[in-house]
Amino acid sequence: MTDPLSIDALKAQVLARPLPRHVGIIMDGNGRWAQLRGQERLEGHRKGSDSVRNVTRASRRLGLEALTLYAFSAQNWQRPPAEVEGLMELLREYIVNERAEIMDNGIRLHAIGQLDRIPPRVREPLEELRALSAGNDKMTLTLALSYGGREEIVAMTQQIAREAAAGTLKADDIDFTAIEQRLWTQGLPPLELVVRTSGEVRVSNFLLWQLAYAELHLTETLWPDFGERELLIALDDFQRRERRFGKTSTQLRTGA
Ligand code: FPP
Repeated sequence: MTDPLSIDALKAQVLARPLPRHVGIIMDGNGRWAQLRGQERLEGHRKGSDSVRNVTRASRRLGLEALTLYAFSAQNWQRPPAEVEGLMELLREYIVNERAEIMDNGIRLHAIGQLDRIPPRVREPLEELRALSAGNDKMTLTLALSYGGREEIVAMTQQIAREAAAGTLKADDIDFTAIEQRLWTQGLPPLELVVRTSGEVRVSNFLLWQLAYAELHLTETLWPDFGERELLIALDDFQRRERRFGKTSTQLRTGA
């Protein structure tokens, strides 16, 4: 067996080829990480917050244009109240403590989801940092909060129905672009790679429309153990794929 590449060699290899413009991550396995160590689930989420910091920093240094993290789903409200409360507190801490790192590194913080459901003590610092960082252009970090892909599609459809009823949108003008302009991800680059940790093989209501032509990278690694090396492995995997968008390999090679 050959030795695994050093992290520097892997980084050099990944940087020599085109990066995906937009990476989404379904961060899973925090609870199992804690349970394996006989700890409370919240300890797993706390360690998961460290992975969020590490992966954001690594993504920015590599030069990714957009990173979207599934931090809390629309369905996660059904978890025990103490866990929901703990997750909201971790989010608040993250937003408050990362302010300098986000600003110093030119990161634009963005959020998608049912943000009106997020408690004010999280939403207010989030909106403040979002406004403060709006002009940053090195990378867009989007937190998906109380997010669901089906919920996003329902909201988009309601918006289209309202515009149609008002006479400002005609049925024949509803195309892919019109839909994308009314999704919460409006303005973000196309999603090209989705990573899911912890060995689960599900999409779990994440960016359903946007996933249409994204590549998937599934790893057994639990989110608290996911760091720069695992990110590089996912990017390397993406770069080895042939993205055909419905065409044949021959067409891609010959440009026919
Ligand atoms: C899934 O693991 C993870 C979540 C539901 C929450 C993700 C939250 C964080 C990583 C921490 C806070 C986020 C930020 C942006 C600071 P799980 O609990 O479903 O794990 P399990 O499947 O092993 O139980």
